[in-house]
Amino acid sequence: MFINFRRIHKCQCMQLLTTGLLLSAAMMCWETLDHHVVSHVRANMYRYLVNSYDFLNSSYVIRTESAGGALANYPYLINHPDKCRGGGAQAGSASDRVLLLLFVKSSPENFDRRQAIRDTWGNESFVWSELGTSVKIVFALGVHPHVGQRAGVQRALLQEDHAYKDLIQQNFVDTFHNLTVKLVLQFQWSHTFCRQASFLMSADDDIFVHMPNLVTYLRQLLSRPPAAKDLWVGHVHRGAPPVRRKANKYHVPVELYPWPSYPDYTAGAGYVVSRDVAAKIYQATLLLNSSIYIDDVFMGICAKTMGVAPQEHGYFSGEAKAPYHPCIYDRMITSHGHAADVRLLWKAATDPAVRRRSRGLLGSLYCTAVRAMLLCLPCSTNTYSCWAAFT
Ligand SMILES: *[C@@H]1O[C@H](CO)[C@@H](O)[C@H](O)[C@H]1NC(C)=O
Ligand SMILES: *[C@@H]1O[C@H](CO)[C@@H](O)[C@H](O)[C@H]1NC(C)=O
Ligand SMILES: *[C@@H]1O[C@H](CO)[C@@H](O)[C@H](O)[C@H]1NC(C)=O
Ligand SMILES: *[C@@H]1O[C@H](CO)[C@@H](O)[C@H](O)[C@H]1NC(C)=O
Repeated sequence: MFINFRRIHKCQCMQLLTTGLLLSAAMMCWETLDHHVVSHVRANMYRYLVNSYDFLNSSYVIRTESAGGALANYPYLINHPDKCRGGGAQAGSASDRVLLLLFVKSSPENFDRRQAIRDTWGNESFVWSELGTSVKIVFALGVHPHVGQRAGVQRALLQEDHAYKDLIQQNFVDTFHNLTVKLVLQFQWSHTFCRQASFLMSADDDIFVHMPNLVTYLRQLLSRPPAAKDLWVGHVHRGAPPVRRKANKYHVPVELYPWPSYPDYTAGAGYVVSRDVAAKIYQATLLLNSSIYIDDVFMGICAKTMGVAPQEHGYFSGEAKAPYHPCIYDRMITSHGHAADVRLLWKAATDPAVRRRSRGLLGSLYCTAVRAMLLCLPCSTNTYSCWAAFT
Protein backbone atom coordinates (compact mmCIF):
# COMPACT_ATOMS: atom_id res chain seq x y z
CA MET A 1 0.00 0.00 0.00
CA PHE A 2 2.66 2.38 1.11
CA ILE A 3 4.84 1.52 -1.87
CA ASN A 4 1.93 1.99 -4.26
CA PHE A 5 1.18 5.36 -2.77
CA ARG A 6 4.71 6.49 -3.23
CA ARG A 7 4.76 5.27 -6.78
CA ILE A 8 1.64 7.25 -7.65
CA HIS A 9 3.18 10.26 -6.05
CA LYS A 10 6.37 9.85 -8.03
CA CYS A 11 4.39 9.36 -11.20
CA GLN A 12 2.45 12.59 -10.68
CA CYS A 13 5.64 14.42 -9.95
CA MET A 14 7.09 13.21 -13.19
CA GLN A 15 3.94 14.25 -15.03
CA LEU A 16 4.04 17.72 -13.54
CA LEU A 17 7.71 18.07 -14.33
CA THR A 18 7.27 16.90 -17.91
CA THR A 19 4.30 19.18 -18.47
CA GLY A 20 6.28 22.09 -17.12
CA LEU A 21 9.23 21.28 -19.32
CA LEU A 22 7.05 20.88 -22.40
CA LEU A 23 5.27 24.14 -21.69
CA SER A 24 8.48 26.10 -21.32
CA ALA A 25 9.90 24.47 -24.43
CA ALA A 26 6.73 25.38 -26.31
CA MET A 27 6.98 28.94 -25.04
CA MET A 28 10.58 29.21 -26.10
CA CYS A 29 9.82 27.79 -29.53
CA TRP A 30 6.54 29.63 -29.92
CA GLU A 31 7.91 32.51 -31.84
CA THR A 32 9.63 30.27 -34.35
CA LEU A 33 6.71 27.89 -34.49
CA ASP A 34 4.26 30.70 -34.89
CA HIS A 35 6.28 32.28 -37.64
CA HIS A 36 6.64 28.93 -39.37
CA VAL A 37 2.93 28.11 -39.18
CA VAL A 38 1.83 31.56 -40.25
CA SER A 39 4.12 31.67 -43.26
CA HIS A 40 3.00 28.20 -44.34
CA VAL A 41 -0.67 29.06 -44.01
CA ARG A 42 -0.09 32.29 -45.91
CA ALA A 43 1.85 30.49 -48.63
CA ASN A 44 -0.82 27.87 -49.09
CA MET A 45 -3.64 30.38 -49.14
CA TYR A 46 -1.77 32.25 -51.82
CA ARG A 47 -1.03 29.03 -53.64
CA TYR A 48 -4.52 27.53 -53.59
CA LEU A 49 -6.96 30.37 -53.03
CA VAL A 50 -5.65 33.64 -54.31
CA ASN A 51 -4.30 33.05 -57.76
CA SER A 52 -2.66 29.62 -57.96
CA TYR A 53 0.60 30.93 -59.34
CA ASP A 54 -0.06 33.82 -61.58
CA PHE A 55 2.52 35.54 -59.49
CA LEU A 56 5.73 34.56 -61.20
CA ASN A 57 5.66 37.40 -63.65
CA SER A 58 7.87 38.73 -66.38
CA SER A 59 10.11 40.50 -63.87
CA TYR A 60 12.02 37.22 -63.79
CA VAL A 61 12.85 37.26 -67.47
CA ILE A 62 16.07 39.06 -68.22
CA ARG A 63 16.58 41.16 -71.29
CA THR A 64 17.87 39.30 -74.31
CA GLU A 65 21.19 41.13 -74.48
CA SER A 66 22.15 39.71 -71.09
CA ALA A 67 20.39 36.37 -71.64
CA GLY A 68 22.58 33.34 -71.22
CA GLY A 69 24.37 35.90 -69.10
CA ALA A 70 27.50 35.82 -67.07
CA LEU A 71 26.34 32.59 -65.46
CA ALA A 72 26.60 30.36 -68.47
CA ASN A 73 30.08 31.55 -69.31
CA TYR A 74 32.30 30.06 -66.64
CA PRO A 75 34.97 28.14 -68.56
CA TYR A 76 35.47 24.42 -67.95
CA LEU A 77 38.60 23.57 -65.96
CA ILE A 78 38.00 19.81 -66.16
CA ASN A 79 35.73 18.34 -68.80
CA HIS A 80 34.93 15.08 -70.57
CA PRO A 81 33.08 15.91 -73.77
CA ASP A 82 33.11 12.23 -74.84
CA LYS A 83 31.71 10.82 -71.63
CA CYS A 84 28.36 9.91 -73.17
CA ARG A 85 29.73 8.46 -76.38
CA GLY A 86 30.52 4.81 -76.80
CA GLY A 87 27.72 3.11 -74.88
CA GLY A 88 28.62 0.98 -71.88
CA ALA A 89 31.51 1.20 -69.54
CA GLN A 90 33.41 -1.44 -71.47
CA ALA A 91 35.41 -0.31 -74.43
CA GLY A 92 34.31 -1.45 -77.84
CA SER A 93 30.58 -1.62 -77.21
CA ALA A 94 28.84 -0.09 -80.17
CA SER A 95 25.76 1.50 -78.71
CA ASP A 96 25.55 5.21 -77.93
CA ARG A 97 22.41 4.72 -75.91
CA VAL A 98 22.48 6.17 -72.43
CA LEU A 99 19.58 5.46 -70.12
CA LEU A 100 20.58 7.98 -67.47
CA LEU A 101 23.07 10.79 -67.03
CA LEU A 102 23.52 11.28 -63.30
CA PHE A 103 25.07 14.48 -61.97
CA VAL A 104 26.32 14.36 -58.41
CA LYS A 105 26.66 17.85 -56.95
CA SER A 106 29.95 17.57 -55.14
CA SER A 107 32.44 20.00 -53.62
CA PRO A 108 36.17 19.98 -54.36
CA GLU A 109 37.18 18.77 -50.89
CA ASN A 110 34.71 15.85 -50.74
CA PHE A 111 37.14 13.24 -52.07
CA ASP A 112 35.89 10.52 -49.71
CA ARG A 113 32.25 10.92 -50.64
CA ARG A 114 33.03 10.64 -54.34
CA GLN A 115 35.13 7.53 -53.77
CA ALA A 116 32.37 5.90 -51.72
CA ILE A 117 29.92 6.55 -54.56
CA ARG A 118 32.29 5.13 -57.20
CA ASP A 119 32.78 2.02 -55.09
CA THR A 120 29.07 1.42 -54.55
CA TRP A 121 25.97 2.69 -56.33
CA GLY A 122 27.95 4.82 -58.80
CA ASN A 123 29.96 1.92 -60.23
CA GLU A 124 29.23 2.20 -63.97
CA SER A 125 30.71 -1.24 -64.72
CA PHE A 126 28.37 -2.80 -62.19
CA VAL A 127 25.37 -1.14 -63.83
CA TRP A 128 26.59 -2.28 -67.24
CA SER A 129 27.37 -5.89 -66.32
CA GLU A 130 24.66 -6.58 -63.72
CA LEU A 131 21.80 -4.40 -64.92
CA GLY A 132 22.64 -4.38 -68.62
CA THR A 133 22.24 -0.68 -69.22
CA SER A 134 24.36 2.41 -69.63
CA VAL A 135 24.32 4.95 -66.80
CA LYS A 136 26.86 7.77 -66.82
CA ILE A 137 27.86 9.29 -63.51
CA VAL A 138 29.74 12.58 -63.27
CA PHE A 139 30.54 14.96 -60.44
CA ALA A 140 29.78 18.68 -60.82
CA LEU A 141 32.24 21.02 -59.12
CA GLY A 142 33.48 24.59 -58.86
CA VAL A 143 36.82 25.68 -57.42
CA HIS A 144 37.72 25.52 -53.74
CA PRO A 145 36.47 28.63 -51.87
CA HIS A 146 39.69 29.20 -49.88
CA VAL A 147 42.26 30.85 -52.08
CA GLY A 148 45.14 29.55 -49.97
CA GLN A 149 44.12 25.90 -50.39
CA ARG A 150 42.91 26.20 -53.94
CA ALA A 151 46.10 25.21 -55.77
CA GLY A 152 46.70 22.14 -53.61
CA VAL A 153 43.11 20.93 -53.86
CA GLN A 154 43.14 21.54 -57.60
CA ARG A 155 46.25 19.36 -58.03
CA ALA A 156 44.54 16.58 -56.08
CA LEU A 157 41.41 16.97 -58.24
CA LEU A 158 43.44 16.64 -61.44
CA GLN A 159 45.01 13.44 -60.11
CA GLU A 160 41.62 12.09 -59.09
CA ASP A 161 40.22 12.91 -62.49
CA HIS A 162 43.19 11.28 -64.21
CA ALA A 163 42.28 8.06 -62.42
CA TYR A 164 38.49 8.14 -62.84
CA LYS A 165 37.71 10.62 -65.63
CA ASP A 166 34.40 11.63 -64.07
CA LEU A 167 34.81 15.22 -62.84
CA ILE A 168 33.16 18.19 -64.55
CA GLN A 169 34.53 21.43 -63.16
CA GLN A 170 33.82 25.03 -64.06
CA ASN A 171 35.73 28.09 -62.91
CA PHE A 172 33.32 29.46 -60.27
CA VAL A 173 33.76 29.51 -56.51
CA ASP A 174 32.07 26.42 -55.08
CA THR A 175 29.89 27.85 -52.30
CA PHE A 176 26.37 27.40 -51.00
CA HIS A 177 25.32 30.68 -52.61
CA ASN A 178 26.62 29.51 -55.99
CA LEU A 179 24.52 26.32 -56.09
CA THR A 180 22.37 27.79 -58.84
CA VAL A 181 25.51 28.19 -60.96
CA LYS A 182 26.09 24.46 -60.44
CA LEU A 183 22.52 23.73 -61.51
CA VAL A 184 23.03 25.71 -64.71
CA LEU A 185 26.30 23.82 -65.27
CA GLN A 186 24.42 20.50 -65.16
CA PHE A 187 21.76 21.46 -67.67
CA GLN A 188 24.23 23.24 -69.91
CA TRP A 189 26.63 20.28 -69.93
CA SER A 190 23.92 17.73 -70.62
CA HIS A 191 22.53 19.89 -73.41
CA THR A 192 25.96 20.26 -75.00
CA PHE A 193 27.50 16.83 -74.45
CA CYS A 194 24.83 14.27 -73.57
CA ARG A 195 21.58 15.07 -75.33
CA GLN A 196 21.01 11.38 -76.12
CA ALA A 197 20.47 10.37 -72.47
CA SER A 198 16.83 9.37 -71.91
CA PHE A 199 16.87 10.77 -68.38
CA LEU A 200 18.90 13.27 -66.40
CA MET A 201 19.27 13.05 -62.64
CA SER A 202 20.71 15.54 -60.18
CA ALA A 203 21.75 14.39 -56.71
CA ASP A 204 23.68 15.47 -53.61
CA ASP A 205 26.96 13.74 -52.81
CA ASP A 206 25.67 12.44 -49.47
CA ILE A 207 22.83 10.55 -51.07
CA PHE A 208 22.31 6.85 -51.46
CA VAL A 209 20.79 5.76 -54.75
CA HIS A 210 19.38 2.25 -55.02
CA MET A 211 20.62 1.88 -58.57
CA PRO A 212 18.90 -1.44 -59.40
CA ASN A 213 15.53 -0.06 -58.24
CA LEU A 214 16.10 3.21 -60.11
CA VAL A 215 17.03 1.43 -63.35
CA THR A 216 13.97 -0.81 -63.09
CA TYR A 217 11.76 2.24 -62.54
CA LEU A 218 13.23 4.18 -65.47
CA ARG A 219 12.91 1.18 -67.78
CA GLN A 220 9.26 0.85 -66.84
CA LEU A 221 8.76 4.50 -67.75
CA LEU A 222 10.49 3.99 -71.11
CA SER A 223 8.28 1.02 -71.91
CA ARG A 224 5.22 3.30 -71.69
CA PRO A 225 6.32 6.17 -73.97
CA PRO A 226 4.01 8.91 -72.65
CA ALA A 227 5.34 8.27 -69.14
CA ALA A 228 8.90 9.03 -70.18
CA LYS A 229 7.91 12.46 -71.50
CA ASP A 230 7.21 15.63 -69.58
CA LEU A 231 8.62 13.97 -66.47
CA TRP A 232 10.07 15.63 -63.40
CA VAL A 233 9.95 13.27 -60.46
CA GLY A 234 11.18 13.40 -56.87
CA HIS A 235 10.13 14.39 -53.38
CA VAL A 236 7.86 17.37 -54.01
CA HIS A 237 7.64 20.50 -51.84
CA ARG A 238 4.29 22.16 -52.48
CA GLY A 239 3.55 25.79 -51.70
CA ALA A 240 6.70 26.26 -49.64
CA PRO A 241 7.11 29.83 -48.33
CA PRO A 242 10.42 31.68 -48.68
CA VAL A 243 12.35 31.92 -45.40
CA ARG A 244 12.51 35.59 -44.42
CA ARG A 245 14.54 35.25 -41.20
CA LYS A 246 18.02 36.56 -41.77
CA ALA A 247 19.75 33.99 -39.56
CA ASN A 248 18.50 31.05 -41.62
CA LYS A 249 20.74 29.42 -44.21
CA TYR A 250 17.87 29.48 -46.72
CA HIS A 251 17.00 33.13 -46.10
CA VAL A 252 15.78 34.87 -49.24
CA PRO A 253 15.13 38.65 -49.09
CA VAL A 254 11.96 40.14 -50.53
CA GLU A 255 13.99 41.99 -53.17
CA LEU A 256 15.13 38.66 -54.58
CA TYR A 257 11.75 36.90 -54.43
CA PRO A 258 8.73 39.09 -53.55
CA TRP A 259 5.94 36.46 -53.52
CA PRO A 260 4.81 34.55 -50.39
CA SER A 261 5.15 31.09 -51.93
CA TYR A 262 7.60 29.28 -54.18
CA PRO A 263 6.40 27.29 -57.16
CA ASP A 264 6.30 23.55 -56.44
CA TYR A 265 9.73 21.95 -56.65
CA THR A 266 11.43 18.68 -55.84
CA ALA A 267 13.98 18.33 -53.04
CA GLY A 268 17.45 18.85 -54.47
CA ALA A 269 18.66 15.70 -52.68
CA GLY A 270 17.78 13.75 -55.81
CA TYR A 271 15.36 14.10 -58.73
CA VAL A 272 15.00 12.86 -62.29
CA VAL A 273 13.86 14.65 -65.44
CA SER A 274 13.16 13.22 -68.87
CA ARG A 275 15.16 14.33 -71.91
CA ASP A 276 12.51 16.78 -73.17
CA VAL A 277 12.23 18.44 -69.75
CA ALA A 278 16.02 18.73 -69.51
CA ALA A 279 15.97 20.60 -72.83
CA LYS A 280 13.20 22.92 -71.63
CA ILE A 281 14.96 23.69 -68.36
CA TYR A 282 18.12 24.47 -70.29
CA GLN A 283 16.20 26.97 -72.43
CA ALA A 284 14.75 28.52 -69.26
CA THR A 285 18.18 28.97 -67.68
CA LEU A 286 19.09 31.11 -70.69
CA LEU A 287 16.07 33.38 -70.19
CA LEU A 288 15.63 33.72 -66.46
CA ASN A 289 17.39 35.77 -63.85
CA SER A 290 19.28 33.16 -61.84
CA SER A 291 20.21 35.37 -58.91
CA ILE A 292 18.06 33.28 -56.54
CA TYR A 293 20.69 31.05 -54.95
CA ILE A 294 18.57 28.13 -53.77
CA ASP A 295 19.05 25.78 -56.69
CA ASP A 296 15.94 23.64 -56.07
CA VAL A 297 13.79 26.76 -56.05
CA PHE A 298 15.40 28.10 -59.22
CA MET A 299 14.70 24.74 -60.83
CA GLY A 300 11.05 25.18 -59.75
CA ILE A 301 10.95 28.65 -61.30
CA CYS A 302 12.42 27.36 -64.57
CA ALA A 303 9.98 24.46 -64.70
CA LYS A 304 7.02 26.68 -63.84
CA THR A 305 7.99 29.04 -66.66
CA MET A 306 8.15 26.13 -69.12
CA GLY A 307 4.86 24.61 -67.92
CA VAL A 308 6.41 21.54 -66.29
CA ALA A 309 4.97 20.31 -62.98
CA PRO A 310 6.82 18.03 -60.56
CA GLN A 311 5.46 14.57 -59.76
CA GLU A 312 5.71 12.91 -56.37
CA HIS A 313 7.34 9.51 -56.00
CA GLY A 314 7.00 7.93 -52.56
CA TYR A 315 10.53 6.55 -52.48
CA PHE A 316 12.55 9.61 -53.42
CA SER A 317 13.85 11.11 -50.21
CA GLY A 318 13.59 14.60 -48.83
CA GLU A 319 15.99 15.69 -46.11
CA ALA A 320 16.09 12.64 -43.86
CA LYS A 321 17.34 9.06 -44.07
CA ALA A 322 15.23 6.07 -44.97
CA PRO A 323 14.71 3.47 -42.22
CA TYR A 324 17.17 0.59 -42.38
CA HIS A 325 15.05 -2.43 -43.25
CA PRO A 326 14.97 -4.99 -46.09
CA CYS A 327 11.30 -4.19 -46.76
CA ILE A 328 12.36 -0.59 -47.39
CA TYR A 329 15.39 -1.60 -49.50
CA ASP A 330 13.00 -3.46 -51.73
CA ARG A 331 11.36 -0.16 -52.79
CA MET A 332 13.73 2.72 -52.05
CA ILE A 333 15.10 4.90 -54.83
CA THR A 334 17.05 7.50 -52.86
CA SER A 335 17.86 8.21 -49.24
CA HIS A 336 19.59 11.32 -47.98
CA GLY A 337 22.42 11.88 -45.48
CA HIS A 338 24.67 8.87 -46.04
CA ALA A 339 28.21 10.14 -46.08
CA ALA A 340 29.66 7.53 -43.72
CA ASP A 341 27.57 4.42 -44.24
CA VAL A 342 27.17 4.28 -48.03
CA ARG A 343 29.26 1.09 -48.31
CA LEU A 344 27.38 -0.76 -45.58
CA LEU A 345 24.01 0.30 -46.92
CA TRP A 346 24.91 -0.67 -50.50
CA LYS A 347 25.87 -4.15 -49.32
CA ALA A 348 22.72 -4.55 -47.24
CA ALA A 349 20.32 -3.04 -49.77
CA THR A 350 21.51 -5.06 -52.78
CA ASP A 351 21.76 -8.37 -50.92
CA PRO A 352 19.74 -11.00 -52.85
CA ALA A 353 18.06 -11.94 -49.55
CA VAL A 354 16.17 -8.62 -49.68
CA ARG A 355 14.10 -9.74 -52.68
CA ARG A 356 13.47 -13.17 -51.20
CA ARG A 357 12.03 -11.67 -48.04
CA SER A 358 9.23 -9.79 -49.81
CA ARG A 359 8.35 -12.50 -52.32
CA GLY A 360 4.94 -14.19 -52.42
CA LEU A 361 1.68 -13.20 -50.79
CA LEU A 362 2.97 -13.74 -47.28
CA GLY A 363 6.17 -11.82 -47.91
CA SER A 364 4.29 -8.96 -49.46
CA LEU A 365 1.82 -8.78 -46.57
CA TYR A 366 4.66 -8.93 -44.07
CA CYS A 367 6.54 -6.14 -45.82
CA THR A 368 3.50 -3.90 -46.11
CA ALA A 369 2.92 -4.28 -42.37
CA VAL A 370 6.57 -3.54 -41.60
CA ARG A 371 6.60 -0.50 -43.89
CA ALA A 372 3.40 0.81 -42.35
CA MET A 373 5.00 0.49 -38.93
CA LEU A 374 8.20 2.19 -40.02
CA LEU A 375 6.67 5.03 -42.03
CA CYS A 376 3.32 5.78 -40.41
CA LEU A 377 4.02 5.94 -36.69
CA PRO A 378 3.68 9.57 -35.61
CA CYS A 379 7.04 9.70 -33.83
CA SER A 380 9.03 8.60 -36.86
CA THR A 381 10.93 11.36 -38.62
CA ASN A 382 11.10 9.69 -41.96
CA THR A 383 11.94 10.83 -45.36
CA TYR A 384 9.17 8.83 -47.03
CA SER A 385 5.53 9.61 -46.34
CA CYS A 386 3.09 7.15 -44.86
CA TRP A 387 1.23 6.46 -48.07
CA ALA A 388 4.40 5.08 -49.64
CA ALA A 389 4.07 2.07 -47.31
CA PHE A 390 1.02 0.90 -49.27
CA THR A 391 2.28 1.42 -52.81
C1 LIG B 1 5.79 41.43 -60.89
O1 LIG B 1 5.35 41.20 -59.55
C2 LIG B 1 5.91 42.10 -58.60
C3 LIG B 1 5.50 41.64 -57.19
O2 LIG B 1 4.15 41.29 -57.11
C4 LIG B 1 5.46 43.52 -58.92
O3 LIG B 1 6.03 44.43 -57.99
C5 LIG B 1 5.94 43.87 -60.33
O4 LIG B 1 5.47 45.14 -60.71
C6 LIG B 1 5.45 42.83 -61.35
N1 LIG B 1 6.11 43.11 -62.63
C7 LIG B 1 5.50 43.00 -63.82
C8 LIG B 1 6.31 43.30 -65.01
O5 LIG B 1 4.31 42.65 -63.92
C1 LIG C 1 32.44 -2.36 -60.07
O1 LIG C 1 31.66 -3.41 -60.61
C2 LIG C 1 32.42 -4.38 -61.29
C3 LIG C 1 31.42 -5.31 -61.97
O2 LIG C 1 30.47 -5.78 -61.07
C4 LIG C 1 33.35 -5.08 -60.30
O3 LIG C 1 34.10 -6.04 -60.97
C5 LIG C 1 34.26 -4.02 -59.66
O4 LIG C 1 35.06 -4.62 -58.67
C6 LIG C 1 33.45 -2.89 -59.06
N1 LIG C 1 34.34 -1.83 -58.66
C7 LIG C 1 34.43 -1.39 -57.41
C8 LIG C 1 35.39 -0.28 -57.18
O5 LIG C 1 33.77 -1.87 -56.51
C1 LIG D 1 30.20 32.60 -57.32
O1 LIG D 1 31.27 32.40 -58.20
C2 LIG D 1 31.76 33.59 -58.81
C3 LIG D 1 32.82 33.21 -59.81
O2 LIG D 1 33.88 32.54 -59.21
C4 LIG D 1 32.31 34.52 -57.72
O3 LIG D 1 32.76 35.72 -58.31
C5 LIG D 1 31.22 34.79 -56.71
O4 LIG D 1 31.73 35.55 -55.64
C6 LIG D 1 30.62 33.51 -56.18
N1 LIG D 1 29.48 33.86 -55.37
C7 LIG D 1 29.33 33.43 -54.12
C8 LIG D 1 28.11 33.91 -53.43
O5 LIG D 1 30.13 32.72 -53.57
C1 LIG E 1 18.35 39.75 -61.35
O1 LIG E 1 17.64 40.09 -60.17
C2 LIG E 1 18.41 40.78 -59.20
C3 LIG E 1 17.60 40.92 -57.93
O2 LIG E 1 16.27 41.23 -58.19
C4 LIG E 1 18.86 42.12 -59.80
O3 LIG E 1 19.64 42.83 -58.85
C5 LIG E 1 19.66 41.85 -61.06
O4 LIG E 1 20.01 43.08 -61.68
C6 LIG E 1 18.88 41.00 -62.04
N1 LIG E 1 19.79 40.61 -63.13
C7 LIG E 1 19.50 40.77 -64.43
C8 LIG E 1 20.53 40.35 -65.41
O5 LIG E 1 18.42 41.23 -64.81
